[in-house]
Amino acid sequence: MTPVITVDGPSGAGKGTLCRLLAEKTGFHLLDSGAIYRLCALASLESGCDLEDQSAVGELARKLDIAFKLVNGATQILLAGEEVSTAIREERIGLLASKVAAYAPVRAALLERQRDFCRAPGLVADGRDMGTVVFPGAALKVFLTASAEERAKRRARQLELAGKAADYAKILQDIQQRDESDRNRENSPLVAASDALELDSTLLPIDKVFDRVYQKAVAQLGAHLGRVK
Ligand code: C5P
Repeated sequence: MTPVITVDGPSGAGKGTLCRLLAEKTGFHLLDSGAIYRLCALASLESGCDLEDQSAVGELARKLDIAFKLVNGATQILLAGEEVSTAIREERIGLLASKVAAYAPVRAALLERQRDFCRAPGLVADGRDMGTVVFPGAALKVFLTASAEERAKRRARQLELAGKAADYAKILQDIQQRDESDRNRENSPLVAASDALELDSTLLPIDKVFDRVYQKAVAQLGAHLGRVK
């Protein structure tokens, strides 16, 4: 069976960086499931579909024309052939993604699409319900958190480094709103799988988080990792 490592947790906890490091080290494929929900949000907005109509957004999710292309080591994200890697990272798209991600028809439409990313030699899956719903049989599950304040600080720093305006109070408010919606929704709420390794990156630098997860991966997936090295 193709081995899967799942990494779930709230936005800004460091999942993206951890998953990238794990994928680089293991040679496994990478699934950024949040990007798929963001693509669904952007497509809904651009199509002018009624954002309150769960079936209509679900239908749109079923037909989403998306692609992840590796170009010179960087992933380009395409929606109907158009590059939208930067557009989907906007805060308003994140909030809208969180809204449509609570819709049962959307989650059902995207379930198999996410599972299709699971190919040899293995997969590192980044999201909210990777270990609980999408890949419940994963070989290693990680749940990564950090305080909302620390996550807001990181996001503000990221924006400043990119030369963009960063309003810490607004960022913190958006993060708390997204956490609230992701944790309390009926469908696939953000929750740690009972067999997940739980780590808090508030005070633990991401390279130390990676060391702990990789050690555990070697212990649990040793034979598979040996094969891809
Ligand atoms: O991870 P990212 O911040 O890009 O995800 C955007 C939104 O998509 C999240 O706030 C969450 O509501 C939703 N999401 C989800 N399930 C996933 C990944 C993301 O509901 N597996």
